Amino acid sequence: MSEPQLQLSRRRLLALGGAFGLLTAGGLASAATLAHRPAGTGGLLRSAIELPPAFQVPLPRPQVLAPVSTTGGVDRYEITQREAVAEILPGVHTPVWTYGGSFPGPTIEARRGRPAVVTHRNELPVPTVVHLHGGRTPAEFDGYPTDFVLPASWPESGGHGGHGGHGGTMADPRAVQSRVVREYTFPNEQRATMLWYHDHRMDYTAPAIWRGLAGLHIIREDSEKALELPDGERELPLVITDRAFAADGSLEYPSLDPSLRDRPGVQEPYMAGVLGDVILVNGAPWPVHEVAAVRHRLRVLNGSNARHYELEAVDQDGRALELVQIGADQGLLSAPVTHRRLPLAPAERYDLLVDFGAVPVGGTVRLLNRMGSGRTREVMAFRVVRAQREDTPVPQTLATDLPEWRREEAVRTREFAFRAGRMGEGHGWLIGGRPFDPAREDVGVRLGDLEVWRLIADVHHPIHLHLVGFRILSRGGRAPLPHDAGLKDTVSLRPGEAAEIISRFDGYRGRYLFHCHNAEHEDMGMMANLEVR
Ligand code: C2O
Ligand code: CU
Ligand code: CU
Repeated sequence: MSEPQLQLSRRRLLALGGAFGLLTAGGLASAATLAHRPAGTGGLLRSAIELPPAFQVPLPRPQVLAPVSTTGGVDRYEITQREAVAEILPGVHTPVWTYGGSFPGPTIEARRGRPAVVTHRNELPVPTVVHLHGGRTPAEFDGYPTDFVLPASWPESGGHGGHGGHGGTMADPRAVQSRVVREYTFPNEQRATMLWYHDHRMDYTAPAIWRGLAGLHIIREDSEKALELPDGERELPLVITDRAFAADGSLEYPSLDPSLRDRPGVQEPYMAGVLGDVILVNGAPWPVHEVAAVRHRLRVLNGSNARHYELEAVDQDGRALELVQIGADQGLLSAPVTHRRLPLAPAERYDLLVDFGAVPVGGTVRLLNRMGSGRTREVMAFRVVRAQREDTPVPQTLATDLPEWRREEAVRTREFAFRAGRMGEGHGWLIGGRPFDPAREDVGVRLGDLEVWRLIADVHHPIHLHLVGFRILSRGGRAPLPHDAGLKDTVSLRPGEAAEIISRFDGYRGRYLFHCHNAEHEDMGMMANLEVR
């Protein structure tokens, strides 16, 4: 294997040195100091291949997976996880890891109240774990990081849950592993929303997602229909990711062990996260999509490992279109919230209405990333190709079923710090000063309890809880921001910031997780166990 061509901007190198320098100096700098550090969220990989011009490749729509059976009130699906070759850059062949051969994976279209049973078959060379992000899923199907689906070729691990992570010293006696095949049941009893499923293997989640192990899972319900939101061609799922490409067309990634077998982690300059220099939407580089001059529903996922976006839609005259937010990670808001720019952290989703009605036919609307630089400032474009009568007003009331949890009703307040720190021989990312250990219980909650959690960050950390949705109570000691509205499963903490969230821990008992969804942070320790009992 040839040495990957990795480059890193000097500014990022300094920022990283700064982050870890603070630690070796024996403590953390004040929030104020940290807040002045550059806003980068990782080290940038630069592609070693010629990149296509923007807005040439048509936007693909991830294919919807057909169930193999729909009897007994259950939809059954089969997905084979396997290597494939994708044409991501025009004319370039890129080996990827896939769910069912496509990059990104196929979309599961679910109905509320109808369980989806998905049989996954692992034909990849390493163990895998499937997690439905944002799903309210029984623990046995939630994709705990050591609940491996082992490939046929994988050696016996010798007892339960042995794995090579963190030097191979930890074992997880509670791991439930299977060989080649595993059936996951997703009840789909939650509010309608757009979820995503992705790999969650201990220590190797970031490179597995990077290689392609991610797909959408959309839950729909009848009450949504009455809102008459744009649908069909006018509803667009947009999975935004960044990647980098090696000279031979393969995906670049700075793994210490590119076989993803023996040694987790990334090269030191990428400890803060891996950023690519190519922006993909639904697996296509800076794509373009033809639309009618009417309102569209954009269902946006940031499926990137570490890149944050600040989205803005700008027409050919430089005017910003309103981004009317109607939903958050966990479904519809009570009422729409209008943004001009919208920050989007890894794993966050937004449900947006964008009206192309004021754009003349022949006009173009570019979706920009105001946090990017150079080519990563552009995401995709919409080309308005025909007039159409508008028949989808923006409903002023969207949902009436949002939980209105009150701080005074919470039975407990907890506090967690998300910070860089020492992990084993090197650096890692810690929660409450400790790196992830599957054998340790970090938090035990009683089923049904309402709790307030105060989350404190050193640098950007998008914090995700499994099992439950939560509401954001405060940010930096003040009221939440406009985009914090609704029910969330991931909250983006900014450098030096503390946020409070409130949630009721109901649904199922068992072992769950919370973690940073900067996937590199997650792999390098920033994850903790949440036991619901
Ligand atoms: Cu998106 Cu623990 O996951
Ligand atoms: Cu999750
Ligand atoms: Cu983090």
